[in-house]
Amino acid sequence: MVTAPSPSHPGFHVVDLIRSKCEGAELSDAQIDWLIAAYTDDEIADEQMSALAMAVWFCGMSRRELGRWTRAMINSGERLDFSALSKPTVDKHSTGGVGDKITLPLVPLVAACGVAVPQLAGRGLGHTGGTLDKLESIPGWRANLTNKEMLRQLADLGAVICAPGPGLVPADKKLYALRDVTGTVESIPLIASSIMSKKIAEGAGALVLDVKVGSGAFMKTLDSARKLAETMVDLGRAEGVTTVALLTDMSVPLGLTAGNALEVAESVEVLAGGGPPDVVELTVALAREMINAVRWDDHDPAALLASGAAMDVWRAMIKAQGGDPDAALPTARETDVITAERDGVLQFLDARAVGEAAWRLGAGRARKEHAVQAGAGVQMHAKPGMRVRAGQPLVTLHTDTPERFARAREALGGGYAIDDAAPEERPIILDRIA
Ligand code: URA
Repeated sequence: MVTAPSPSHPGFHVVDLIRSKCEGAELSDAQIDWLIAAYTDDEIADEQMSALAMAVWFCGMSRRELGRWTRAMINSGERLDFSALSKPTVDKHSTGGVGDKITLPLVPLVAACGVAVPQLAGRGLGHTGGTLDKLESIPGWRANLTNKEMLRQLADLGAVICAPGPGLVPADKKLYALRDVTGTVESIPLIASSIMSKKIAEGAGALVLDVKVGSGAFMKTLDSARKLAETMVDLGRAEGVTTVALLTDMSVPLGLTAGNALEVAESVEVLAGGGPPDVVELTVALAREMINAVRWDDHDPAALLASGAAMDVWRAMIKAQGGDPDAALPTARETDVITAERDGVLQFLDARAVGEAAWRLGAGRARKEHAVQAGAGVQMHAKPGMRVRAGQPLVTLHTDTPERFARAREALGGGYAIDDAAPEERPIILDRIA
């Protein structure tokens, strides 16, 4: 048997801290600082940290503990500094959903309003997509930039979307991977500290959070989403970052596509002044929150979207990172159409079912090291409330590997229903926490 390291501190031992957290005691500031630093430096073993994460999962953390835990995570790495820029900076974070391509039109739109957006984005895991996977479907586009390149692009264009460097919150890189394999992801203090440590270390002056609620989101109920949003807004404020959260619906996918290149194409439609109304509404609402958060509110994002100004920033931003904004996007080799079995009104289209189908078609990955198919995904032809006729296409499945169709159809089974009455309308923006 491998002996776990026994990291020691003159005042305490990791096993005692695990026990005391299991019994519901509060950890002191010094204990938290040491735990995070020792885990980042590989002095505390994964099995010890997973026991501690499980204790937090059951017992939670006090406001003081959570603030200190988040600060210790930020201090585990570098903190970016944009104070040399002549513009204010603001960032957006979404807790993740199906068809959530909002970052793509939003970043150039806010930059077109004159505010710089340093957006460090992630890759998809499970049924929700990742912004970097989407952008990598654009031929030539590069996710990895040095801090110097990022700063230059922000000064020149006001817009950058790239991968976080290895120096940003290394504690979270280890802890998030560990939580993923130990059933400890779904804990409000652990989610809030994970997200906010990265967003605060990223250095933007203000932050707008898009906290998703519904079947396709981490948070399935409005109450739990509100609690997460309040916790994150509180953490942001405590660190001096103006933070606002919108709670938005994720019971239905956003827009009409879920899949990497499919979502890029839809985002370009939005930037060209078209696109699905829900994507446009949420993009403009988040842009308004972002420019209000830095008191830059004499610009109208809806007008700048319509004028093509945001499209100009998008093209420059893609080119600056080696991409060709005019290149044809990859398409899947095979498609399969699911049609309506009767006349009626589409009652619901479950976000989780669509996300799962897109993932099974190859748009997402099960493990970090897996590759994604750029052209794979689900294209929707109807949304809840729309009248459909028997035989009309409801969704088109896209993949390079047609043996995946059966499993994708299975994921969608029960994920939609057609009936005669119109379903109740659900707004996209459910609440705002500031
Ligand atoms: N996203 C993160 O970055 N961390 C979490 O814990 C959950 C979602």
